[in-house]
Amino acid sequence: MRAEDVSTVAVIGAGLMGHGIAQIFASSNYEVRLLDITDEILAKAIQNVRSNLIMMAQSGLISDEEIDTIMSKITTTTDMNDVKEAQLIIEAVTEDRQLKQNIFERLDNLCPTDTILATNTSVIRITEIAAKARYRERILGTHFWNPPYLVPLVEVIKGDNSSDEIIKETCRVLRSVGKHPVTVMKDVPGFIGNRLQHALWREAISIVANGIADPAAVDDVIKKGLGMRLPVLGPLENADMVGLDLTLAIHEYVLKHIDSSPGPSPLLREKVEKGELGFKTGRGFYTWSAEEIEKSRKRLQRHLMDWVLKQSSV
Ligand code: NAI
Repeated sequence: MRAEDVSTVAVIGAGLMGHGIAQIFASSNYEVRLLDITDEILAKAIQNVRSNLIMMAQSGLISDEEIDTIMSKITTTTDMNDVKEAQLIIEAVTEDRQLKQNIFERLDNLCPTDTILATNTSVIRITEIAAKARYRERILGTHFWNPPYLVPLVEVIKGDNSSDEIIKETCRVLRSVGKHPVTVMKDVPGFIGNRLQHALWREAISIVANGIADPAAVDDVIKKGLGMRLPVLGPLENADMVGLDLTLAIHEYVLKHIDSSPGPSPLLREKVEKGELGFKTGRGFYTWSAEEIEKSRKRLQRHLMDWVLKQSSV
């Protein structure tokens, strides 16, 4: 399938990620079919897309007139037969390996053999998700980041059987909707982004568990310090900037003191067992009131929106 032959995109799963992915393609004039298991979930997803667009219009990212045009591009369904005409299908259902395997088996049987089948899995190997399909060369990963309509990155992951062609054409489709694809050449759990992110989170939790600092101090080190560099300086550019000799000396001294446990922290397990799940239960590493949760979500959204606005004016 060539990128220019893609005119209809289907998204399976209309949750947090699925509705945002549908919005991206609808905003770039693709026909979009959005599928989930109930009409109620789909109605909520449509409502979410509209509120995202209203917020974007209020910030001047799109015009008010565009909202209805974009919305008219999305049709919803609970029937898998309605997505088989799409040239690109992106699966964004719950992170459950078996569920994803069954969906890809079903899509593989249902769709023409050149339909591009992509999964938005966060960490599961693409090759495992494709295990029950026959035409595995057209199956790949497209890992969007939340909120997908504001964050430009999409990791494009090559499964053991994905063809080079499918990787190249999918990257072209993603560029056509303003996304920034990065190719992951080896199908490893967690790809690039989640490996980096969870290496950082493991150490953050370990610092708290070992009484080195409290959660607010750890978060402040990122927010008021090294995090400020990250939008303009990746870790490898940063290593070059400070010098690889210095990096070597630091690693020789400090790496043995950094957490390298192969499993989750006992502190994290203990919190989950006590029902301290974070925003979901009002208590995690911090205590959260409903207002604080809303404030935190709004702060992130505002920050991302300002970033997108700044990029569009450059
Ligand atoms: P979610 O729970 O918000 O949405 C999942 C949706 O899948 C639900 O609406 C559910 O009804 C639907 N679903 C479940 N079984 C289905 C089926 N058989 N057919 C059709 N729809 C079905 O989950 P979320 O957060 O949107 O995650 C979706 C995928 O994206 C997961 O694989 C997740 O790991 C990945 N992801 C999530 C990110 C996040 O920040 N939440 C970021 C990047 C990827």
